[in-house]
Amino acid sequence: MAVNVQQLSRQALGIGRFAREIYAMRAQNAYHGLVRGDPLSQLQLAAGRADPHAVHERMRALGPVLPTRLGNLSTTSHAVCQQVLRSRAFGVDDPAAPRPGSDMLDLSLLALNPPDHTRLRRLAAPAFTPRRMAGYEALVETAIDRLLDPVARQGRSFDLMAAFASPLPIAVITRMLGLPDEPGRLRHIGATVASALDGVRSIGHALTLYLADRDLKQTFDALLVRAAADPGDDLTSALLAQEGDQITLEELSALVGLLLLAGFETTVNAIGNGVRALLADREQWQLLVDDPSRAGAVVEEVLRYDPPVQQTARVLLTPEPVRLAGVEARRGQWVMLLLAAANRDPDVFTDPHRFDVTRPDMGEHLAFSGGIHYCLGAALARMELAAAFRALAVRFPGLRPAGPVVMRPGTVLRGPRRLPVTF
Ligand code: HEM
Repeated sequence: MAVNVQQLSRQALGIGRFAREIYAMRAQNAYHGLVRGDPLSQLQLAAGRADPHAVHERMRALGPVLPTRLGNLSTTSHAVCQQVLRSRAFGVDDPAAPRPGSDMLDLSLLALNPPDHTRLRRLAAPAFTPRRMAGYEALVETAIDRLLDPVARQGRSFDLMAAFASPLPIAVITRMLGLPDEPGRLRHIGATVASALDGVRSIGHALTLYLADRDLKQTFDALLVRAAADPGDDLTSALLAQEGDQITLEELSALVGLLLLAGFETTVNAIGNGVRALLADREQWQLLVDDPSRAGAVVEEVLRYDPPVQQTARVLLTPEPVRLAGVEARRGQWVMLLLAAANRDPDVFTDPHRFDVTRPDMGEHLAFSGGIHYCLGAALARMELAAAFRALAVRFPGLRPAGPVVMRPGTVLRGPRRLPVTF
């Protein structure tokens, strides 16, 4: 095979530039976070990731809407988050103003404005209707039993994440999509791809991402070929039946990818964050043990207190500026919506830093975002989470921590990587 020296040197130069950009970005974050005290940069550093709420409170004290060092805006305010999420003047994509720290992922619905968003969302929505949901309930209960039976038999200490929180949503979403049953492999691919949400950290990370992305695409290609040849009662077959006029193969592949990622990189964190909060306050855990029908309320409070998706962003698309709590947003400016901070806004929640499964105001949380991008899987997630918390309380009333919790690295998605428990 002939070696194209010019091409190789161009590639090497490109990689060199890419590496310099990544490391420069990390250095800038460290400088602005540590030296200049920039809160958004701090959220990306270890201390900020360990306790994002402390950073949010410092930001809240400075005002509801703050300028960012890249010329954008950020908000900790529930009212401003709602205003932006519900406004048609804001969108999720503006080719003229790429999102800061933009990632390598095609996030399908999450990265599309109307009318493409409207068209694709209409196609996917029927899969999440109450009728479909009823069908998934049995699937969820079976998956829970399959995971917890061996735990109950085998011993008293286990890592809740590896034994339960991770495999449960994977089992549910892979069955929904008609993917082969390979939880270990999918978990690895999912975790790798999700890590791109926080931006690329290093050349090694970029390579791992590239390989995971390729692996995922191959898996989807095989899935689409199988669904075309032998359609089943799964979501992929249903979506494929609409291919052509309504959805291209590329769009379909990205949508299935988003469902897979959204399906298990969020619910897993919600189970982990929830069990962590419940066990940290024995009284709250006992309330659930004494009355497992509280599981629905527990889900809402867990999502309010420590949401798996901590932040999102919108960009102003209109030429007319929009006022946000007295601050003017201009066309092309991004607004970082700190959903986790909005969920602890004292204007909406009484005693916001207290985890309380009996609070009356928990339903106001923004863990599933709002407006046209409101989480499509919210009903599925709520059902899955309630079933998970209920099952844990019924089977293991004496559940308690058994070692230090290790959190996963990342700013956008938040949850434990390891959560040792005993019963
Ligand atoms: C606790 C679990 C979950 C949480 C906290 C969560 C959170 C979110 C959030 C915050 C958004 C909107 C982001 C934005 O506004 O920019 C979103 C969108 C979405 N979620 Fe979820 N999600 C969860 C579970 C699921 C599940 C189980 C599925 C599906 C299997 C799912 C599918 C989606 C889809 C397709 C979108 C895009 C909707 C659109 O852009 O129109 N999510 N989710």
